[in-house]
Order: sequence, then C-alpha cells, then structure tokens
Amino acid sequence: MINKLKNIFKKVYTVEAEKVFFAPGRVNLIGEHTDYNGGNVFPCAITFGTYALIRKRNDKIIRFYSDNFKELGIIDVNIDDMEYNSEHDWANYPKGVIWAFEKKGMKIDSGFDILFYGNIPNGAGLSSSASIEVATGVVLKDLYEFNIDMINIVKCSQEAENKFIGVNCGIMDQFAIGMGKKDCAMLLDTNTLKYEYANIVLDGASIVIANTNKRRGLADSKYNERRAECETALKDLQTVLKINSLCELNEEEFEKNRYLIKDEVCAKRAKHAIYENQRTLKAVKALENKDIDLFGKLMNQSHVSLRDDYEVTGIELDTLVEISWEMPGVIGSRMTGAGFGGCTVSIVKDEFVEDFIKNVGAEYKSKIGYTAEFYVAQIGDGARKL
Ligand code: GLA
Repeated sequence: MINKLKNIFKKVYTVEAEKVFFAPGRVNLIGEHTDYNGGNVFPCAITFGTYALIRKRNDKIIRFYSDNFKELGIIDVNIDDMEYNSEHDWANYPKGVIWAFEKKGMKIDSGFDILFYGNIPNGAGLSSSASIEVATGVVLKDLYEFNIDMINIVKCSQEAENKFIGVNCGIMDQFAIGMGKKDCAMLLDTNTLKYEYANIVLDGASIVIANTNKRRGLADSKYNERRAECETALKDLQTVLKINSLCELNEEEFEKNRYLIKDEVCAKRAKHAIYENQRTLKAVKALENKDIDLFGKLMNQSHVSLRDDYEVTGIELDTLVEISWEMPGVIGSRMTGAGFGGCTVSIVKDEFVEDFIKNVGAEYKSKIGYTAEFYVAQIGDGARKL
C-alpha cells in the first residue's frame, strides 16, 4: 500500500515523498450525541484510515492532492491565504487545521506537497474528515517541529471543523482518532476530557460495521439543528437548575425537571442525551464485569432512543439494525456516528459472522433496493508517523 502511494506521489509531484503519516477512522460503540452535551462517549480507532505522504517545499505554496478525488487534481494554495474557499473542496479540511494552528501562533514559513489517500468509505460516518484533519495536525507538528501534544492537535482539528468548515461537532471523533489505542476503546468524559482505556475483549465475538450506503445528504445542517435543540432545552432547565450541560443530570433529575422544557421536541432531544450518557457508563461497567449481553442490550436501547427521541436514524439505518437484531449470534446492534445514513455497529458471535453478513446483506438489499457493505473491525492505534 505505502509503496503504491509513494509511486503515485512521484507521478503527481515528480519528486519523491519524504515522510508518511497515518490517521485512523473511528467507530463509536456507545454514547451518541452526548459529546456536545458534556457527556461520555466510548469510541475506538479502527485500522482503516487516511495516509498522508509529504515533501516540504522551499517556497510558499502548498499543493494538495487526494487519490480519492483524482478528478479534482492538484489544489494549489498560498500559505498566506488560509481562507475557506468552496472551490478547494475537500482541501478545506487540511487548510482549516493549518488555519487553527496559525491562530495558536504556530505559523508555517514554507509550503509542502501532500498526497492523501483514505480507505475509510467516504460519507459513511466513520469520520473520514476528522481523520484527514488529525493527519494534517500530526504532519504539521513533525514538519515544523511545533511544540504541541496530541490533545491540542485534537482540539485544533475540532476547531477547524467548527469554525472553518462550519460543522458544530463535539470532540469525540478527533479525540478517538488522535488518542486511539490498539484493542482498546476509550471512555471519554467530554466535559473534563478525562479518559480511560478499556480493553475490548469480546470473548468469541467481533465488532461488525455495516455501511447503509445511504449518503449522509443533509446531515450537517440536521446535526447543527439537533445541537441547537439541546441548547434550547438546557436554557429552559437553567431557569431553575444550576447546570452547565445537559449530561450533568441523571434520569431521575431529568424526569423531575422535564416540565421546565417548553418545547416537547427539545425535551425529547434532552432526554436522549441524558439517558444515553447514563447508558454509556452502564455499558462500560457491563464490559468490566464481562457482561457482554448487557452491553449489547444497552446498544440496542441506544438505537431505539436515537430513532424515537433524537430522530437521527432514517429508514436505512433502522432497517439494517432491525434485521440485525433478528439474526442468530447478534449480541447488540445500533447506528453509530451522527446518523442520517452512514453505518451501524454490531457485536456478533464469531461463528455467526459469516452468516450475519450474508443474510443481513440479502435482506437489506431486498428491502432497501441496494446493497450494504460489511467490515469486521479491528481496533488500531491513533494518528502517527509511519
Ligand atoms: C459526529 C460528530 C461527533 C458526535 C457524533 C454523534 O460524528 O462529529 O462529535 O457528536 O456525530 O455522537
């Protein structure tokens, strides 16, 4: 793979690449739409991700090329011109990270040629964009010897997404990609950024990711809408309660004070965030106690809540999950990521994985009209130089 990419680099830029970097994608096991509500998440990095090959230049030009978007060719940008430009398409992600670094005083004084290649399916909700962002951060640190640790690379990447791209995401994706660890998921408290790794020992079961192949069309605007609804609910609760985020409440405290939220839709959104946060903590406990069945049940409940209260699933995700629930050997199944299309994550007993892929695939195709794709996920390390 890397040699093939080095050859492509040489063809595109007529010089050899000097360095190679990798940033993974991520899958979230549980804790969805809690990360901008001060709650907990439980994601892991996967072994699919984004490769970045690079060579420093002596002038002030940065040239971006993605082997996933060959038709867009090389995108040239001057280092003094780090502004969002819709013509630059995907290159706005790495540009945004350079912009965020510069805002923190890390100015780059010369350009570079960079080639990206990602084997994460695009638009599948496995964070291909956060993967490009964190890869860029790791490249910048290495190339210009900036004194920045991984947590701050993660924060710059999130800032790029929020302020440069305009998607008000939380910190989960960038964090999982930067801080991932082989065979571990991480329980991250997004309020304090305290985190701990949990070994994922599923005792004869695997994590299976299934892509609905539904493009996440209006996802970004719907995402920002959900976030705004949570903020409205929080404001209503704050008229009486002294809280800074929704996830400071547990289920009982929420039910007692739910009447404060004027709009019923906003109350449902808040309910999801608060219950999901508690479910995440219960799920991690279940895993510690080696109670995989309980972990699976909590995953299923998470999906129901995302479907009915948060309303971010849709026919494709619901169909895929509901078919999965009926299959032998399935311990739990839910949508993962932002929703509105994208992927599901299931825990399936090893001896049933093959049949699961075959039978879920066939039933999905007959109900939805096109195929889903399946990946048995391996949990890998976070972003790094290769
Ligand atoms: C997207 C965002 C994350 C998180 C999830 C939902 O992946 O980038 O910050 O909010 O959706 O859990």
